[in-house]
Amino acid sequence: MQSRPNVAFLASHNGSNMRAIVAACRAGTLNVNPVVLISNNAGSGAVAWARDNGLKSYHISATSEGTEAAADASIVATLRRHKADLVVMAGYMRKLGPETLAAFAGRILNVHPALLPKYGGKGMYGRFVHEAVLKSGDTETGVTIHLVDGEYDHGPVVVQVPVLVQPGDTVEALTARVQAKEQELFPETLRRIVSGEIDLDQIAPAS
Ligand code: GAR
Repeated sequence: MQSRPNVAFLASHNGSNMRAIVAACRAGTLNVNPVVLISNNAGSGAVAWARDNGLKSYHISATSEGTEAAADASIVATLRRHKADLVVMAGYMRKLGPETLAAFAGRILNVHPALLPKYGGKGMYGRFVHEAVLKSGDTETGVTIHLVDGEYDHGPVVVQVPVLVQPGDTVEALTARVQAKEQELFPETLRRIVSGEIDLDQIAPAS
């Protein structure tokens, strides 16, 4: 890994993990270079935040580009133009296309608000995950950061940490605790990738 990799973000809603990573960079506690945000949602909080915080952003989706294949090609072109070394999915609710997956194989990280493989897959995102955890009666949930493949919330796990479910937890309370943990874990994981302590090439399946 480069000593100061360029990091691109993909986000659909608030981009809370993007914000935490950029904040860590600006505080001098994380040595990566945030280069661009791509969002499938032009009205997202992530896009507004990027605009207000000097991070270049683009709206790219099947709607803006005409087809899924054109959106895939446009995402790759944008990531290449900004010389992305790592791609961070910070609450990105779309599957990536085959061109993006091939061009950035082993370099795309997703955060999921549960201990995968539990509570992952299509339709399992954001509050739906926490609702399912509370309904199950599980006493533990957590955060997973994993390399991305062509399935939702699927691919080799990089790190996982538990978060305890408290008696009387609501979806809102559990969401807040899990998201606080995500926002510590993602910058810390990037720090460990930059330092070489985590070697993504050892985690990515051989292609
Ligand atoms: C985050 O908790 C992230 O882990 C989750 O969506 C939330 C986005 O929140 N991602 C998934 O569920 C992916 N399957 P945000 O829009 O407030 O940043």
